[in-house]
Amino acid sequence: MKHTAEINRRKTFAIISHPDAGKTTLTEKLLLFGGAIQTAGAVKSNKIKKHATSDFMEIEKQRGISVATSVMTFEYQDSLINLLDTPGHKDFAEDTYRTLTAVDSVVLVIDSVNGVEEQTRRLMEVCRMRDTPVIVFVNKMDRDGKAPFDLLEEIENELHIQLHPMSWPINSGKDFKGVYNLFDKNLLLFSANTKANDDDVINIENLADSTLTDRVGEKDAAQLREDVELIDGVYGQLVVDDYLKGKTAPVFFGSAVNNFGVREMLDTFIRIAPSPQCRPTSEKEICPEEEKFSGFVFKIHANLDPRHRDRIAFLRVCSGRFERNKYYHHVRLDKDVRFSNPYSFLARQKDIIEEAYPGDVVGLFDTGNFKIGDTLTEGSTFYFTGIPSFSPELFKEVVNKDPMKTKQLEKGLLQLTDEGVAQLFTQHGGNRKIIGCVGDLQFEVIQYRLLQEYGASVQFNSLPFYKACWITAADPKKMEDFIRFKTANIVLDKDGFYVYLAQSEWFLNTEISNNPDIKFHFTSEIHKG
Ligand code: G4P
Repeated sequence: MKHTAEINRRKTFAIISHPDAGKTTLTEKLLLFGGAIQTAGAVKSNKIKKHATSDFMEIEKQRGISVATSVMTFEYQDSLINLLDTPGHKDFAEDTYRTLTAVDSVVLVIDSVNGVEEQTRRLMEVCRMRDTPVIVFVNKMDRDGKAPFDLLEEIENELHIQLHPMSWPINSGKDFKGVYNLFDKNLLLFSANTKANDDDVINIENLADSTLTDRVGEKDAAQLREDVELIDGVYGQLVVDDYLKGKTAPVFFGSAVNNFGVREMLDTFIRIAPSPQCRPTSEKEICPEEEKFSGFVFKIHANLDPRHRDRIAFLRVCSGRFERNKYYHHVRLDKDVRFSNPYSFLARQKDIIEEAYPGDVVGLFDTGNFKIGDTLTEGSTFYFTGIPSFSPELFKEVVNKDPMKTKQLEKGLLQLTDEGVAQLFTQHGGNRKIIGCVGDLQFEVIQYRLLQEYGASVQFNSLPFYKACWITAADPKKMEDFIRFKTANIVLDKDGFYVYLAQSEWFLNTEISNNPDIKFHFTSEIHKG
């Protein structure tokens, strides 16, 4: 049995944005449409309070809650939607990048006032690496934002993606009157704070129709006619295949907080977003329709109760059917494991599940068997590729303040870095431990958790490095020489692979040009593929 119907009705995606653009608000509206929550504010209250994001204690408190919102599953029309949450804080960007390996498409939220922002750029880079299909939602049209054509140009230029407007706004800010749906050829009139329903939709087959003028006035009607003519001339019809290949991104305009334009986007999403896709492995592409089960771990979350060190591993099902209590092969450890309490993430509660299909995310209780990127199969030995560790940008040496707790510290460091909060390196030819992170906040979290969960007290000393590069060479002799000459900059990652730590971009470029036989890689993926 190929479970085709189950596979086809699934859509697994993430909403990404620069903090404050409206990701949480949009998530909430989607859940309302899906009937997964009944009241506005249900997701919002789970959010790490923005103003407290520099306070890691607050993050600590929110950790358990964010497990519950990590994956939100809901049904809409005939589709089953798995919405994977991504942390908004930039210091947890790596977590977001990895979550993006587990989705089949994304919705990118852009604030119409601020346009493209720093996190938007970084997140889109990751999407482009994998050609992930993107739908853009330009939010906050009820505020005086940038002119829509300027905004489209900015997004196209900065994010290097072709856009395709699906709706078009009539003004913005206090003059915002609504959007014209270019695809369905109807007008959706804006009314603040109401749940947009079908009554607000006016069908206008022909824009020359006087209904348009009657509803929005002479001036705005003329502007819309002009804009739409231009758009039709420039963009033509949306080629869905270009969207699926990650080349073209359909764009919607709306206001999440007013629930305006959200349903239009969701309806299009249901129509065009990809169902679970094939994924690369060490042997061949594995497609969802394969008879046998396979999946990979893309996120590990420590459990809330510090007395029990069990964790939750998030497994994306890639092929076949996952069943409770069945033995599966843990490829890295070469052993068979089974799960008696796997759970699914229905937004209202955690439910023990009996089975799961490609596109689904299953929560597995783990006592330390899993690392990010681990593959489970029904006996095969391939592993999924494309789940990289990114190069950290901040480096600190771990100083043990309590020698009596050395063992606990080592265990803590290994387990916490398995969760992917940070990367652990060991000095070449020595025993110094170095932690690499993408954000400063993670050092605080690690220090706090080492003490709370492992009783180990540490201090961090900053190191003057700016980037870690995994190094390889075809000729072992050349590799040996490089390592010998650069000993002070060489460390080993957790899997024993050599990593060069560069002090600055200048040093890195110099080494790259002076050592043509050495290859410098910015993700650890090279060793897994
Ligand atoms: P994030 O998850 O991307 O960080 O953004 P979030 O949804 O929390 O939205 C950030 C702020 O923007 C919130 O205001 C939210 O209410 C507001 N917002 C979201 N969508 C719209 C929109 O369409 N129009 C306008 N004008 N504002 C919008 P806040 O004051 O920070 O929070 P709150 O006090 O309203 O909860």
